[in-house]
Amino acid sequence: MELIPDYEIDDLFKKTLENKNYNKISLNFWGKEKKYLEIEAFYIKENKEVMLIVNDYTPLNRMEENFKEFLGNASHELRTPLTSIQILIDLFSERKITLEEIYNEFFPHLRKEVERMSKLVSNLLNLSRLEAGVIELQLKDVNLNEIVFDIVERLTPHISKKNLNVTLKIPERVVITADPQHLDTIIFNIVENAVKYTPPAGSIDIGVEENVNNISLWIKDTGIGIPEKDLPRIFDRFYRVSKSRTNEDGFSTGLGLSIVKKLVERHGWEIKVESEVNKGTKFEIIIPKGKDGKRSD
Ligand SMILES: Nc1ncnc2c1ncn2[C@@H]1O[C@H](COP(=O)(O)OP(=O)(O)OP(=O)(O)O)[C@@H](O)[C@H]1O
Ligand SMILES: [Mg+2]
Repeated sequence: MELIPDYEIDDLFKKTLENKNYNKISLNFWGKEKKYLEIEAFYIKENKEVMLIVNDYTPLNRMEENFKEFLGNASHELRTPLTSIQILIDLFSERKITLEEIYNEFFPHLRKEVERMSKLVSNLLNLSRLEAGVIELQLKDVNLNEIVFDIVERLTPHISKKNLNVTLKIPERVVITADPQHLDTIIFNIVENAVKYTPPAGSIDIGVEENVNNISLWIKDTGIGIPEKDLPRIFDRFYRVSKSRTNEDGFSTGLGLSIVKKLVERHGWEIKVESEVNKGTKFEIIIPKGKDGKRSD
C-alpha cells in the first residue's frame, strides 16, 4: 500500500488472504500517467503470504484504443456516402424524384462522395498492406525533378483555382534510387496537403538541396500551419488537426501522412516537419546518400 496506494489492490490482497486462492484484477492506475495493469495474486500456503504479480499492459491497451478509434472513424467515413446513396435510391424508387433531377442535382454531389469513399478504401488498403509488410519496393533510378513536375501538373486545377504561387527550386537532374510509384505517393500527399491547407493567393515552394551525406527534398507552404501540440500526432492514422478545418470538398481521410511516413521509413529515409500557425508548414524528406539515395549527373 505504500508503494501503490490503491484500494482495489488492497481488496485483492485481503481477498486472497481470506480465500487462500488465485485471484486476478485489471485496473486503470493513475500515477504520473495512466497505466493499464493486470494484477495476479497467489496465496503461498507455506508462509501464509500473498504474492502479487503486476503486469503492465499499457502499450497493448493504447494500441487497442487506437484501433477502436480507427474502426469508429472508418465506419463513419464509409457510412456517410452510403447513407446518401440509400436516400437517393429510396427517393427514386418511391418516384419522388425524376432521373432529370438525379442527373442535375445529385450526380455532382454523389460523384464526390463516391470518390471520397474510394479514396478511403484505397488508402486503407495501402496502409494495411504496408502494416502487413506485403509491399515490396521496386527500386529504380528516378529523377526527382521529373516526379515533382508531374505531380504539380496533376494538381494544377486545384492550384489555379486557389490562385497559389508554386515555385520549384530543383536542379534539372537529381537522380535517387526509389520505388517510383511509392515516391509519387509520398510527394503527392505532401504537396496535396500544401495545396489544401494554404489559403488562396498563398505560395508553395518545393526544393532539393544536397550535401555530402544527404539529399533533402522540402515542401514549404504559407498555409494555416499546425499547432505545436498536434505536430507529433499528424502522422497517426486518421489524425486531423480539427475536423472543422478539413477542406470544403470533404476530401480528407486523415490517412495521407501516415502512409507517407510508412513509405519514407520503408525506403530508409527520414521525414521532418516544422510549422507555425498562420505562417506555414515545411516538410522535409532526408534521403541519406549511403542508403537508397544517390546522385549522378
Ligand atoms: N501543409 C499543411 N498545413 C497545415 N496543416 C496540415 C498540412 N499537412 C497536414 N496538415 C494537418 O495534418 C492532418 C493530417 O494530414 P493527412 O494528410 O494525414 O490527412 P488529411 O489531409 O486530413 O486527409 P487525406 O490526406 O487522407 O485526405 C491534416 O488533417 C491537417 O490538419
Ligand atoms: Mg492529406
